[in-house]
Amino acid sequence: MSANILEVAGLEKHFGGVHVTCSINFAMQEGEQSAIIGPNGAGKSTFMNLLTGYHRPDAGKVVFAGEEITGLPPHQVARRGISRAFQVSSIFGRMTVAENVRAAVHAQMRATFRLFASAHRIGVEETGRVLALCGMERKRDLMAGELAQGDKKRLELAIALAGRPRLLFLDEPTAGMSIEEARSTMELVDRLNRELKLTVLFTEHDMGIVFNHARRLTLLHRGAIIVQGTPAEVRANETAQKVYLGEHHL
Ligand SMILES: Nc1ncnc2c1ncn2[C@@H]1O[C@H](COP(=O)(O)OP(=O)(O)O)[C@@H](O)[C@H]1O
Ligand SMILES: [Mg+2]
Repeated sequence: MSANILEVAGLEKHFGGVHVTCSINFAMQEGEQSAIIGPNGAGKSTFMNLLTGYHRPDAGKVVFAGEEITGLPPHQVARRGISRAFQVSSIFGRMTVAENVRAAVHAQMRATFRLFASAHRIGVEETGRVLALCGMERKRDLMAGELAQGDKKRLELAIALAGRPRLLFLDEPTAGMSIEEARSTMELVDRLNRELKLTVLFTEHDMGIVFNHARRLTLLHRGAIIVQGTPAEVRANETAQKVYLGEHHL
């Protein structure tokens, strides 16, 4: 059994008087690919925001790779190896594909190294590596703003990979895509998980995608974890059927 790369204990957040996450305990093993599911407003995005420093938890503890990262700001969380792609696009539309990736690579290099003579060469190599990983080499000189939805998501994944993360969060990676684009995006995610041993946690509303691409599911409802387990275990769970899966006829 491999060690946990992520451990979350007693995580709480409220906005005003409303508890958005209630004492969440959660762990991931290095290399696993899992999903968080649940109705709109369940707290899925907030949970990812709490783990990546975009919100500060009111209570609880987040440990990544054996080191406590609770309450650290986003750039420090990123530097430790956690990356995320947003529900809303972070692409610069008036830059090319390669320029977008290079900007992310440089931002990460500034955070990691002091600038030295070979920084430019390393930046170029790293940009090429990330573009190749995401199958975007042939589109490197296209304007990012003109890409199809599926290629935009590929580019966002490329940007998220620029810092060589060990853990990647994807908030609704297939939102707004055609079935074909969603399939190809999730195939890329599977490949990154497999080839880079990248640990992946994603949220997703399409239960077909969830059941095909996640080895473990966590069902969040009103900020609390209702059920956790393999897709088959969650599907067989009565509470899961009642609060969420029933609506999706699963
Ligand atoms: N910055 C915020 N201020 C106040 N309420 C928020 C904020 N962010 C999220 N919420 C509330 O937290 C709850 C969970 O939201 P969210 O995490 O976006 O759910 P999900 O991603 O599962 O749809 C919702 O009721 C939402 O209105
Ligand atoms: Mg959300």
